[in-house]
Amino acid sequence: MSVDYAIEGDVAVLTINHPPVNALSLVVREGLKAGIQKGLADQNVRAIVVLGGGRTFIAGADISEFGTEKSRQGPRLQDIQRALETSPKPTVAAIHGTALGGGLEIALACHSRVAVASAKLGLPEVKLGLLPGAGGTVRTPRLIGVEAALSLVTSGDHIPAAKAHSLGLVDAIIDDLRSGGVAYARKLVAEGAPPPVIERNEKVTGVDPALFRDFREKTAKKSRGQLAPAKIIDCIEAACTKPAAEALAFETAAFQELFQSDQRKALIHYFFAEREARKIPDIPESVQPQKIGSVAVIGAGLMGGGIGMVFANAGIPVTLLDVSDEAVAKGRGIIEKNYATSVSRGSMTQARMDDALDRMRFVTKYEDIGPVDLVVEAAFEDMDLKKKIFTELDRVMPDKTILGSNTSSLNIDEIASATKRPDKVVGVHFFSPANVMKLQENVRGKATSHQTLADVMALAKDIGKVAVLAGNCDGFIGNRMLQYYTGEAEFMLEEGATPEQIDRVAESFGMAMGPLAMRDLAGMDTSVRIRAIRRKTLPPDERMTDIVERLVEAGRYGQKTGKGYYRYEGRTRIADPEAIAIIEDASRAAGVKRRAFTDEEVLYRLFFPMVNEAAKELEEGIAIRASDIDVVWVNGYGFPAHRGGPMFWAEQVGLDKVLDTSRELAPRRGVRWAPAKLLERLVAEGKGWSKA
Ligand code: 3HC
Repeated sequence: MSVDYAIEGDVAVLTINHPPVNALSLVVREGLKAGIQKGLADQNVRAIVVLGGGRTFIAGADISEFGTEKSRQGPRLQDIQRALETSPKPTVAAIHGTALGGGLEIALACHSRVAVASAKLGLPEVKLGLLPGAGGTVRTPRLIGVEAALSLVTSGDHIPAAKAHSLGLVDAIIDDLRSGGVAYARKLVAEGAPPPVIERNEKVTGVDPALFRDFREKTAKKSRGQLAPAKIIDCIEAACTKPAAEALAFETAAFQELFQSDQRKALIHYFFAEREARKIPDIPESVQPQKIGSVAVIGAGLMGGGIGMVFANAGIPVTLLDVSDEAVAKGRGIIEKNYATSVSRGSMTQARMDDALDRMRFVTKYEDIGPVDLVVEAAFEDMDLKKKIFTELDRVMPDKTILGSNTSSLNIDEIASATKRPDKVVGVHFFSPANVMKLQENVRGKATSHQTLADVMALAKDIGKVAVLAGNCDGFIGNRMLQYYTGEAEFMLEEGATPEQIDRVAESFGMAMGPLAMRDLAGMDTSVRIRAIRRKTLPPDERMTDIVERLVEAGRYGQKTGKGYYRYEGRTRIADPEAIAIIEDASRAAGVKRRAFTDEEVLYRLFFPMVNEAAKELEEGIAIRASDIDVVWVNGYGFPAHRGGPMFWAEQVGLDKVLDTSRELAPRRGVRWAPAKLLERLVAEGKGWSKA
């Protein structure tokens, strides 16, 4: 049975048993309805408690049933809510694990909610391109007030039980789930149940309309291009201005509208993509991940320090090694400054900062690291240096220690060849700033063992990262594609597009920052150095533009010199005729006739060449599945999740268009830009990536 019915004296306890997360599938909705009816009919029952069996309360509607026949069958969520809300016998939700989305909405229809201290509550529908569709926007502000409701529902955050209690979302914190829930139900029997949440109007009357206006402005900036946040604000406003029944109808209509949107489809694709990425098909079930409980990081600079913070924040002791006392002191200083900024912004408490720093140890000698489960090398991108480090690590570390490299492009097999344990060598590629960016791109060498892979894939969850496994090639999944993205941005500049147009198109599409503004931020002098190396190994049929070099020659390094592709006033970028003149000179020198670009052309040329390259990664087995590539780009490169990732988006636009662009560009760009065989085949067969 998906919902178990039991009697505790005069209280009926309905326990949902629907692993893994007690989602509100058809069987659960049927079970809940039947259980409530039974409790109401039983003369000896005076109250009803709903709780979750296993690890959690209810994770929300069953996303995998969305759009299927099952979602239309059986009782609706609203029918169950009505039964709980109108029950003459007090109803109590006893919460552990997580109460999310439709799960929290079920709890909101009970007379009271109690939770164990470790529970978390939230309405994360916004992350799926949706809004709470079972009264969440109408009941939540009635319990916790409008401001708190706006921030809870538009952020989709899961808040801890203590905060939920202080806001009024839960009525009491209990020690034991079952007995605590039953005791609270008896208390309601004795004292009388409070009125249903939907009838409590005091927190939603007389709300200043300016509150919504301000929140709309703030949210529009943060959630550029997303539909759901604005709709949520509309619904919460309706909850304050319309009678409850009308507000519920308003919410249902808004939910339906979002449900039909491409953004909802993209975000749900993305939800499953992240979870699928954790699964490595060839790792046998007998290989169970072993916990990584201690770590060392080689290099305490910007990258190494950031990686160290990731582990320390997750409660894992970390030893950072650098070459000298000065280097160590500098690294430690930067880490302390970063933490202090988080504390001053309120995103971290002083106590958590102190704890994290306590978990960090700094050394200058390999012998002083001591035994750890994992070492992450984060030195410069120099093969000889890395090989020296790995030889040294192989010498001093116990046999069981995994040796990871944070390289963003170098050959893992060559690095592993410097050790006697290539099975324990793996790429563990974090993105800068490591303590902020979510992606952990693990890279499999030819000798990397299943156990090593299982351990580093599982590690990601412990440290709050999203893991994807890549094969070993230059640039792995993400950076290999990036060359085509930034490369084509430059070719378009040379052919007549302006920096503003290219960045505007990328940003209105939803990229966190356009490719040229990004380069101005990173500093162009760094690019020039990397480009000089690339030029030496460029295939004979390819060329690079020299716009970056010309800008640097003119002292335009980017934001740090106040000018690059743009000129800067503070951080504000301003179109600069001087930069345009330099770009026009570059076009003339290259013999390229400038012309106007449409925004659509800019968009396609930015993303299609890199999608074509990604198709080659799929062909070669560098990426296991197209959706893994989406996960890499959303978490590592700021690709908008509400577009589903570059592969999902490209398939929506049409793989034939990607192919057309590749066919058009390849003769001019070189053989590496030629259409992927896989892409040609899929287009010919009229198939998408999943049928690849
Ligand atoms: N429906 C269907 N399957 C779900 C699900 C859901 N709501 N939530 C999780 N799952 C599945 C996952 O796909 C995964 O399946 P897999 O093992 O086959 O890959 C499995 O449950 C375990 O999930 P996680 O790996 O994510 O487990 P975690 O322990 O890391 O996280 C969680 C658990 C916090 C519950 C997380 O899964 C989560 O955030 N789930 C989504 C919650 C959500 O968005 N709820 C709102 C749904 S929409 C809604 O309710 C509409 C309503 O307003 C009408």
